[in-house]
Amino acid sequence: MKADVAVIGTGVMGSNLARNLARQSGHRVAVYDRDVERAQKLAADFPEAEFIVASDPADLAGKLAEPRVAILMVNAGRATDSAIGDLAEAFASGDIIVDGGNSHFRDTIDRGARLEGTGIEFAGVGISGGEVGALLGPSLMVGGSPAAWQRLRPLLEPIAAKAGDEACVDHIGTDGAGHFVKMVHNGIEYADMQLISEAFTLLRDGLGMTPPEIAEVFADWNTGELESYLVEITADVLAHVDEATGRPFVDIVADAAKAKGTGAWTAQVGLDLGVPVPTIAEAVFSRSLSSAVDLRAEGLSLAGPRPGAESPSLSPDDRATRIVEIGKALLLGKVMAYVQGFHEIVVGARENDWDIDLGALAGIWRAGCIIRARLLDRIVEAFDTPTPPENLLAAGFVRKIAETCQESLRSTVVRAIGHGIAVPGLASTLSYFDGLRTEAGSAALIQAQRDRFGSHTYARTDRPGVFHTRWSGDRSEVEV
Ligand code: 6PG
Repeated sequence: MKADVAVIGTGVMGSNLARNLARQSGHRVAVYDRDVERAQKLAADFPEAEFIVASDPADLAGKLAEPRVAILMVNAGRATDSAIGDLAEAFASGDIIVDGGNSHFRDTIDRGARLEGTGIEFAGVGISGGEVGALLGPSLMVGGSPAAWQRLRPLLEPIAAKAGDEACVDHIGTDGAGHFVKMVHNGIEYADMQLISEAFTLLRDGLGMTPPEIAEVFADWNTGELESYLVEITADVLAHVDEATGRPFVDIVADAAKAKGTGAWTAQVGLDLGVPVPTIAEAVFSRSLSSAVDLRAEGLSLAGPRPGAESPSLSPDDRATRIVEIGKALLLGKVMAYVQGFHEIVVGARENDWDIDLGALAGIWRAGCIIRARLLDRIVEAFDTPTPPENLLAAGFVRKIAETCQESLRSTVVRAIGHGIAVPGLASTLSYFDGLRTEAGSAALIQAQRDRFGSHTYARTDRPGVFHTRWSGDRSEVEV
């Protein structure tokens, strides 16, 4: 009997996805890895899955029912290109190659275009949920042609996470759309993690709380509006004790955060599209700063207030009030990170001719993925109306949260800055928020400067048109 689908790459993510497929979809699954022994070990370790192990791409093609479907679970970049190259030689017109890695959406667009002449369909699918999600139910963001989606749907729906009884899988749009929204998902993930970590730092260095105490705060937050997977695991991590030293685990982890690149892509694409995503960008920069060991060693002796658990500084005598304030600041920060991410999706969709249903997208982020959060229910509701808002900022619940939390965000940032606690995520979010509220800000002067030194023209507030002032002449104005 031939297999219905293949998983290529049997690392942790690939293995878990293959096991999920074998268990949930009722389909026979073939597995292939360049390291054939690794694929054989997977089959041996999980005999109940009855994996069919292929020894090379041609063997795999022979073991798959036609038209074939293969899901690549290999590293993004060169490994993905070479796996596609191998499969393209063995596969035929009508077959589908799915890339389930964290590929850049522009690579996905190019790869699809390169395969066009072969008749092989290419679908870039964003998969979120980490190892556990891959095994028990990830959130799946499918890109590619509607025809490819129709073929993939019966395979993917059974393995996706469920939000209520809805499967967290949807067709996002053609070519790179699935990987585009996965990239933004990760950008929001970075922002969320940064804001959570800043809240932790404020509680530790500002209020002098211990990690186990802070774990309780996060556990409590996880019963309210902040409820989310990332807040939940934060409480878990903070309560964990290092076996070797008996110290809180978080205290023995080196203070240097790594990144594989998707957060940076979200910031870069934001820059390319002219979409402000400062909270996401700050989250990326903060990881870079944390890892800039030499620079930090140099910076340690710089002048300024030095907060710390030994000398807590955010009026610790009023701890309960401060904790509530920090929680509200975190909530508004999180909402603004979503506003930025959704803005990037709206503009990206327009640029790339994708018709992305924002409500449906929020719907498939409600379970399985890393940014799953109670907040997403409200985003779904906001877009699930006959006349959905054009952007998330216009949603009623966003305005309500802004109203109830802006003062807390402001005072939290002011206190943190006054006491020398770095809160780049919260601070840049507040500036973004205030920038949005400002009727006449600093840009008029910038545009005037541009016209002054480079004749770059300007628009006027009092009448339409494009204008230039003859700065080096008689300073008269011309309409251009
Ligand atoms: C997911 C995650 C995942 C990502 C890791 C690591 O949605 O399951 O976003 O795809 O690769 O979280 O990302 P960084 O190494 O860049 O932090």
